[in-house]
Amino acid sequence: MSSSAEVNSQYFNNIAADYDKRFANVLEPLKTELRENAGFIGIKSGGRLLDYACGTGFVSICLSDVIGQAVGIDITENMIGAYNAKAKSANVPEYQRKAYLGNLLSNPPSPSLDDKLFFGFDVAGVGMGFHHFEDVTLAATRLTERLATGGSLFILDFLPHDPDLNHNAARGVHHHGFTEDNIRTMFETAGAGSGFEYKELSTEVVFENLPGQGQPMHRRLFLARGTKTA
Ligand SMILES: C[S@@+](CC[C@H](N)C(=O)[O-])C[C@H]1O[C@@H](n2cnc3c(N)ncnc32)[C@H](O)[C@@H]1O
Repeated sequence: MSSSAEVNSQYFNNIAADYDKRFANVLEPLKTELRENAGFIGIKSGGRLLDYACGTGFVSICLSDVIGQAVGIDITENMIGAYNAKAKSANVPEYQRKAYLGNLLSNPPSPSLDDKLFFGFDVAGVGMGFHHFEDVTLAATRLTERLATGGSLFILDFLPHDPDLNHNAARGVHHHGFTEDNIRTMFETAGAGSGFEYKELSTEVVFENLPGQGQPMHRRLFLARGTKTA
């Protein structure tokens, strides 16, 4: 594992058990706005979603009324455990929603992700995980490779913000938000630049319970989408 992946999985393994509770005030208001934007993202009724860096399943659960299958991938064992425990307790069958341990951003990607289950998605994206990735262009490229032609890549992440130098390293944070130009270039390089759109969301989220952080952290978010054409 790269040192970035190790820091991330160590940090998220420690907070997985109470992630949903700790961040309920962030996730709840976002849920509505993400659902309202299912069409913008390119979600197709009955389609297959790759929820990369899925955590406890926020994106998969938000979009569950529309999609046919959610496949989660994450590098953190305890996040995968929480995702699958929630699906089980909601009586969702595994073929409809299941998460797997793996890393698409290593060289090569985890061999466990070579199965055909992990290819041919209608939509692939990441909710609030891109700022944790060292090489974001590689991430966009590897996700696009997993899409069917005509499928959509999406990113939900933070608008540019001041760096929080004291605590970023311990949380595995590598980026302080992304501009529209950053993301457009990334999508074009990845091969998902067709029909590119970027929109600022109206929800402002406040992280009040970050481990080791005294001050609440205010963030605005964007949603970006683009289509894989070949
Ligand atoms: C802030 S959480 C977001 C979780 C979820 N998407 C959500 O919206 O609540 C970031 C997630 O990224 C995962 N992560 C970090 N680096 C990763 C990588 N290289 N590959 C897969 N997952 C990664 C972490 O384990 C963590 O679950």
